[in-house]
Amino acid sequence: MSRRESRQGSVRQGAEAETSMIKIEAIIQPSRFESVKDALREIGIEGMTVTEVRGHGRQKGHTEVYRGREYTVDLLPKIKLEMVLPDALVNRVVDTILKTAKTGKIGDGKIFLSRVEEAIRIRNEERGENAL
Ligand SMILES: Nc1ncnc2c1ncn2[C@@H]1O[C@H](COP(=O)(O)OP(=O)(O)OP(=O)(O)O)[C@@H](O)[C@H]1O
Ligand SMILES: [Mg+2]
Repeated sequence: MSRRESRQGSVRQGAEAETSMIKIEAIIQPSRFESVKDALREIGIEGMTVTEVRGHGRQKGHTEVYRGREYTVDLLPKIKLEMVLPDALVNRVVDTILKTAKTGKIGDGKIFLSRVEEAIRIRNEERGENAL
């Protein structure tokens, strides 16, 4: 029996079992960051983590344009956004990122979704969706 099954079948079927939280990791072009951030704020997204990262996709070693300059180095600057959300908000956030991050050119980035087991607000130890 997997950990997930054993938890669902256990006595812990309270609020915790009903919550479903998803982490969205979006790697986007730095030039699109302000627009994406504004659009996410408009749809009511509050918490997020933003990191300056470097990466490459499948054109490794090929030329990409960044701020009007061509780069042939294989690691280019990108912005990584991380958000943990209640399941119900995920589609809206993904649509918003797709619309605002897209330039249509190579290197526009990726969105990865994964399940989150638990969230805890450190200040008051609230858990689950209440902690988001
Ligand atoms: N499979 C992956 N795992 C983790 N990060 C990735 C992956 N693919 C891409 N990335 C990240 O996303 C950034 C942008 O990737 P990119 O959009 O170039 O992907 P791609 O598959 O080459 O698509 P495209 O053909 O549109 O360029 C990379 O620089 C890297 O940071
Ligand atoms: Mg690419």
